[in-house]
Amino acid sequence: MITLTVNGRKQSFHGAPFKRLIDVLRENFALTGTKEGCGEGECGACTVLLDGEPVNSCLIPVCQAEGRAVETVESLGAPEKLSKLQAGFLACGGAQCGICTPGMLMTARAHLKSGVRVDETSVREALSGNLCRCTGYQDIVKSVITAAKKK
Ligand code: FES
Ligand code: FES
Repeated sequence: MITLTVNGRKQSFHGAPFKRLIDVLRENFALTGTKEGCGEGECGACTVLLDGEPVNSCLIPVCQAEGRAVETVESLGAPEKLSKLQAGFLACGGAQCGICTPGMLMTARAHLKSGVRVDETSVREALSGNLCRCTGYQDIVKSVITAAKKK
């Protein structure tokens, strides 16, 4: 049995220890917000936070999350109470097809929490491992900067 904390809640997983974290989140814990793009660690769509750090959940076996804290996009907010980041993406058109969006949001969350100065350069650098085929990135960067400015 593998135990981990997911979005602040203790969870147990009974199954193959090398099952990918993304599959455990989606199939075993019904957290389908995390999306799969490439499945090879290249696109960042599957990004979740592991002990606060962004990781590609398609590359992480669930056993590596034993005793650790995982945060998924579901931890950010709810439709009736959007987080600052979600509201920023909504206001600035940072999401189009939405496949990259959960990963973008989680990487951006780690960036905002890191305490570094949030500006266009730092946001672009932080999000450099997250690929988007739709937006051209400008509106995503604007979304994160807008969120950072919200009190
Ligand atoms: S789906 Fe994990 S990095 Fe692309
Ligand atoms: S919004 Fe479609 S891939 Fe980014």
